[in-house]
Amino acid sequence: MKNTLHEAILVTLLVTGLYAFIKYCESNIRYYSNYFTFEKVTQNVELKLSSQAGVGEKVFKANCAVCHGAKGQGASGPQNNDASLELLKAKVLTGSYPPGYKPKRTTRIMPRFPHLKDKIEAIHQYFQEVK
Ligand code: HEC
Repeated sequence: MKNTLHEAILVTLLVTGLYAFIKYCESNIRYYSNYFTFEKVTQNVELKLSSQAGVGEKVFKANCAVCHGAKGQGASGPQNNDASLELLKAKVLTGSYPPGYKPKRTTRIMPRFPHLKDKIEAIHQYFQEVK
């Protein structure tokens, strides 16, 4: 009888202990997974893109990268991450070039993007920080 009681107490302690241990592990896993997510965010920050360049990156990747490459390094379209703000405005908004500028290509394939008027500076900033 006495033994059975001891056994019961022992089993209860073991089960409670095991349960506590599992909960403890779970919270650690959650802690570490947060930690890893945090690490990823920090790595992005380490690319050192300012918030304006971050906006430029999004706009560029959504509208230009398909022809010019992810960093404007050139693909089917010519390299353009060396473009001045003036050149970007002329080419993107009206399909023209600043006076005296010698275009890399004489074709007129590139579409115009007048709706990106307010984003040109951000794209330019992206180039400054990524090239
Ligand atoms: C459909 C493909 C395509 C897209 C999309 C595109 N471009 Fe172009 N881009 C070209 C081509 C091709 C040229 C060469 C001139 C031409 O044919 O218009 C060019 C030329 C340029 C030039 C002039 C380069 C130089 O020094 O002569 C700049 C600057 C430029 N693009 C910026 C942009 C930006 C910024 C975007 C996004 C808003 C963009 N392009 C989207 C194809 C594209």
